[in-house]
Amino acid sequence: MWVYIDKISQYVGQEITIKGWLYNIRSSGKLMFPELRDGTGIIQGVVSKKEVSEKVWEDFSKLTQESSVIVTGTVSQHPKKENVFELQIKELEIVQISEPFPITPKEHGIEFLGDNRHLWIRSTRQAAILRIRNEIIQSVREYMYNNGFILFDTPIFTPNACEGTSTLFSTDYFDLGKAYLSQSGQLYAESGAMALGKVYTLGPTFRAENSMTRRHITEFWMMEPEMAYYDLNDNMDLIEDFLEYVVQRVIKNKAGDLGILQRDISKLEKVKKPFPRITYDEAIEILRKKDIALIKKTSEGEEQIRPFPWGEDFGAPHEEAIVEDFDKPVMVHRWPVQAKAFYMKRDPENRDIALGVDVLAPEGFGEIIGGSQREDNYDFLLERIKEHDLPLEEFQWYLDLRKFGSVPHSGFGLGIERLVSWICNLEHIREAIPYVRRPNRIRP
Ligand code: 4AD
Repeated sequence: MWVYIDKISQYVGQEITIKGWLYNIRSSGKLMFPELRDGTGIIQGVVSKKEVSEKVWEDFSKLTQESSVIVTGTVSQHPKKENVFELQIKELEIVQISEPFPITPKEHGIEFLGDNRHLWIRSTRQAAILRIRNEIIQSVREYMYNNGFILFDTPIFTPNACEGTSTLFSTDYFDLGKAYLSQSGQLYAESGAMALGKVYTLGPTFRAENSMTRRHITEFWMMEPEMAYYDLNDNMDLIEDFLEYVVQRVIKNKAGDLGILQRDISKLEKVKKPFPRITYDEAIEILRKKDIALIKKTSEGEEQIRPFPWGEDFGAPHEEAIVEDFDKPVMVHRWPVQAKAFYMKRDPENRDIALGVDVLAPEGFGEIIGGSQREDNYDFLLERIKEHDLPLEEFQWYLDLRKFGSVPHSGFGLGIERLVSWICNLEHIREAIPYVRRPNRIRP
């Protein structure tokens, strides 16, 4: 009977078959200890010279790392370790003897691993991260489905910008001129919310940012809910409830894989609502107290501006300083209008303020969510589109949403790879997606 390694505990004492690959093998005289992997996990096998045929013994001696094998044996409980199982092997079928595998248990340089990403993903750590990513996306979808959100898939080819014209990838689109790869599905999701009440979109988005930080990639997956009749506070209530659900579910269902990554789960267990909510003004107070400067690039190099000036967006050092004293995600709300996108609603009580919210992950992982209440007034929105010099004709349909039964509405965007990086405690976002795209990497 073919069994996957992650289900092996149900088969103690039974004879089963595993179809997979040889991860590693040790031998000591009359015993061999092959480690087998099948994508769901790793199990140690025991081959005893006196228990198997001569052919099986010899075949095992021939195996190289990553050879594909079908192995049959009896599942046993590890003599010392609870919840660890072994396979007392009887039969071996070799599917292919692997050529020397380029990635060995020794250390490799990061460029080498990136060039060999198609093989690197087989390593224990990478496979664990990708299984956690799967659990995260599944949790996101389930939360949305269970809470009445309708999946509303938005297009990737678009004729206009959502998040600023400086980061658009363009391509030729038949006789219709230029098409741009979507930076965000939000504008379309807003139309969906007016049709269906609560919607979400989850798909790849693109930013032509020539930025080589540990948190930026040019192609990333974003989940964007959009809700009619939600104001900024409703939006923040949703963010809290949603993040708590996803994080708590992942630590419950993926304890094994988080263990492989040596993730300190006690830190994630604290992610329970309510989350701290601070205004932008309170956030810059923190920066000023800690004397963290704004760093501006100039022709001569860098300039440090103190105290941190009102109106500027935060970079990584600022985000780290703001969350330092909290052990939960921090919601920074009410931003200077000039630091935020054209579609955000202005605070009716202070026109310099946009009703936006950024969510900063704890432990210095930076912004994982950006959201806002949207401008729902036709004239104000038109003014903002003109101020940002956006092509009016491409925004007519978007303005229509403010003509035909306009309502207050809000939404947010969650970067999946940023969330994966935080939950998995990754040094660099490149490990959070099967194939990373950055300014200096498009292969494999
Ligand atoms: O703050 P952003 O740009 O917001 C939007 O795109 C809105 N339209 C979302 C909305 O309200 N529906 O991006 C949202 C999130 C960020 O918080 C971050 O997690 C992620 O998307 N993100 C990136 N992730 C990886 N690499 C990049 N270059 C990213 N840019 C944004």
